[in-house]
Amino acid sequence: MTNPQSDAASAWTPLAFIETQVEEIKQTVGSGRVLCGLSGGVDSAVTAALLQRAIGSQLTCVFVDHGLLRAGEVEQVRGDFVAATGVTLVFRDEADRFLDALAGVTDPEQKRKIVGREFIRVFEDAARQIASQTPIDFLAQGTIWPDVVESGTEDGTSTIKSHHNVGGLPADLQFKLIEPVRTLFKYQVRDVGTALGLPDSMVWRQPFPGPGLGIRVVGEVTRERLGWLRVADAIVREELTAAGLDRTVWQFPVILLGDVHSTGVSGDKRTYGQTVVLRPITSRDAMTADWARLPYELVAKISSRITTECPAINRVVMDVTSKPPATIEWE
Ligand code: XMP
Repeated sequence: MTNPQSDAASAWTPLAFIETQVEEIKQTVGSGRVLCGLSGGVDSAVTAALLQRAIGSQLTCVFVDHGLLRAGEVEQVRGDFVAATGVTLVFRDEADRFLDALAGVTDPEQKRKIVGREFIRVFEDAARQIASQTPIDFLAQGTIWPDVVESGTEDGTSTIKSHHNVGGLPADLQFKLIEPVRTLFKYQVRDVGTALGLPDSMVWRQPFPGPGLGIRVVGEVTRERLGWLRVADAIVREELTAAGLDRTVWQFPVILLGDVHSTGVSGDKRTYGQTVVLRPITSRDAMTADWARLPYELVAKISSRITTECPAINRVVMDVTSKPPATIEWE
């Protein structure tokens, strides 16, 4: 299967892409209204910026806190995005809804489908509230090419993961979908974002999956486990930035092995605690990846800070597997 926007195959340029997409969006939407789901990542930010350029006030963005976000993320997205784009943003705190729906679920594909379904239900509800007179027909999503390929929705491809925004959509979806960056790789989305004038802090954010920390807690997702993972993840992000490696490392998942305990020692006492896995990777498009060779001093600092600042975690390990055969996320 070939990507229609492959920059190797054609003279792809961000400016030409923007022009075509803006025209297409205008044609498709007409005088209708569009809801755009924002995740805080670059794909949905670029999608929203394209729509804003094409249809302006006919667009409303919705940012859902599903309780699976990282520390500080809600404040960052609400502040940064509105400042950078000036779009109308509706914020929904839906943590209880998502965490209740995920209670007791351990299967990764099931978790993704639950998150995908609940997102849509929240968008439908938001659409009803925003436009009680004129219904909102369209939902815009920042789906990109690897999401489509890995979800196995194109002819002849098998499902690797049902990305929440593709294979995780409910069958009774009420909206028509608009996905202007569906044919792009992440580096192309970044080029488009820069050409649209989005700030570097947004364009260069490391990818973060829609189901968030929900697919980084292996096994059941509980508030307690999410709390431990948030502490570890915040330390990793802080230390990576301090080491000046934010752009060298494509993405740095931190995974909590929820069901695995191991013996440790604290002072003169035995502990039986949690393990986190560091998964720093380098990549161009997330279709293949290699594990990042981080400086040992950085790894040592991260490990000692995590075990000191989160006493529930008594072991930190590194994942040194490329993709393939492993995927980037553990679930
Ligand atoms: P994998 O784990 O398949 O990840 O090697 C490839 C890229 O996709 C991200 N990812 C997702 N993004 N919804 C998303 O929005 C999902 O369900 C999902 N699963 C994986 C992953 O973080 C990586 O950047």
